Amino acid sequence: MKKKKLAVLTGAGVSAESGISTFRDSDGLWENYRVEDVASIEGWHRNPALMLDFYNARRRELATVKPNAAHIAIAELENEYDVTVITQNVDNLHERAGSTRIIHLHGELTKVRPEDRYSDRDGFSEETVFDIGYGEIHMGDLAPDGAQLRPHIVWFGEAVPKIEQAIAAVESADIMLIVGTSLQVYPAAGLYRYAGWDTPIYIIDPKDVPVSDPRIRHIRNVATKGMEEFKKILNSK
Ligand code: APR
Repeated sequence: MKKKKLAVLTGAGVSAESGISTFRDSDGLWENYRVEDVASIEGWHRNPALMLDFYNARRRELATVKPNAAHIAIAELENEYDVTVITQNVDNLHERAGSTRIIHLHGELTKVRPEDRYSDRDGFSEETVFDIGYGEIHMGDLAPDGAQLRPHIVWFGEAVPKIEQAIAAVESADIMLIVGTSLQVYPAAGLYRYAGWDTPIYIIDPKDVPVSDPRIRHIRNVATKGMEEFKKILNSK
């Protein structure tokens, strides 16, 4: 029997219980860094060394943490559902938990690519992207074409190349699950609108969610406990 399609949109909250800080909670990343200095294309052109240090530190931290029960529960849903994970996170915890179809909307922390010397748009081709694991890159580390290497991250001010793929996954989903995102950053935050008019949307978040829609059911809990509730709901259908 054909498996039902489940689209899962995740944000920093799904990795919070792994020990990775979110962005907008108290003591989140954006309380300790100015977004424009460490996560924007203008910041890169202004001070690339600062940004390389910022991502080197986050890559070193990623080596010390591991997937939590929420990542694992999402991966296990592949036994009963045709799952597409659409994540805003740049960590590799969904991969390490065993999820097999993952769309990284905002890039991947373990990957780097040459900077685009020919336009401010910072366009790139996938074949120039490569994985450095939890290593570091510094000013003067150049790609084969001689360009400075940069993190393979989508910064503010840059396009989100995989958004069409994500929209297609949501449009074709029988169920949508949203875990641990403040739904503040577009286009990711608008993805739920592409779900079918009768597609149930479950949101797992301990705090209030900034959207109201008749399709949405809010599971007010942290990701690990919320996933247990979500699986009970699925099993009761
Ligand atoms: N379990 C589930 N949700 C949690 C938990 C938890 N343990 N802890 C916090 N949350 C929720 C918060 O209530 C909030 O709604 O996770 C969300 C985190 O929101 P943000 O910090 O804004 O993270 P996110 O939504 O992923 O940010 C989106 O913003 O800065 C950019 O590119 C960055 O991808 C990021 C994007």
